[in-house]
Amino acid sequence: MVSIHDEKLKVPYPGGSEVVEHIQQYHDDPGERIIYTTDKEHMFPEGALIVSRTDSNGIITHANDVFVEISGWSREELIGAPHSILRHPDMPQAAFADLWATIRRGEPWVGYVKNLCKDGGFYWVYASVLPNIRKGKLLGYSSIRRKPCRDKIRELEPVYAAMLAEEKSHA
Ligand SMILES: Cc1cc2nc3c(=O)[nH]c(=O)nc-3n(C[C@H](O)[C@H](O)[C@H](O)COP(=O)(O)O)c2cc1C
Repeated sequence: MVSIHDEKLKVPYPGGSEVVEHIQQYHDDPGERIIYTTDKEHMFPEGALIVSRTDSNGIITHANDVFVEISGWSREELIGAPHSILRHPDMPQAAFADLWATIRRGEPWVGYVKNLCKDGGFYWVYASVLPNIRKGKLLGYSSIRRKPCRDKIRELEPVYAAMLAEEKSHA
């Protein structure tokens, strides 16, 4: 998987924030896509769970209401899209390489993920991703996200930033 995160443009955004343009490559797309981020955090609702299911290639097949609401995409936009629609440029590629290697072995993966919203903002989750296996056959994967622990996010931010810098230095 190759990943390029290139901060190209910063423009003022109403409310004091700024929009940053990024060029990203995705493992299943030979081209590049431009995405825009802001520093607006969408807080994970108390007591809620974000649930999604994918096919064996990571294409979204189910999105619960909380997922639709926090992500900003409609259910129609999410269903049929690759789960990488949520990939935030602050996330190191190594996290997803570990996720896929783990679930392809048939094991559950847990970890903290910073996700992109349609409006360019973000939300943090504590995610569990599980293979759905019935009668020995892989049907796809499920993900259940819980409200993350703020202390853990503070601890992980510099770790993810260092991993990302390392990846960029080899790009
Ligand atoms: C069930 C499931 C849930 C996933 N959830 C997320 C997610 O919340 N955010 C995310 O960026 N990637 C998620 N992924 C990983 C993406 O499929 C993808 O690997 C990742 O966004 C990196 O993009 P890339 O593989 O195109 O480089 C999930 C994958 C699966 C199978």
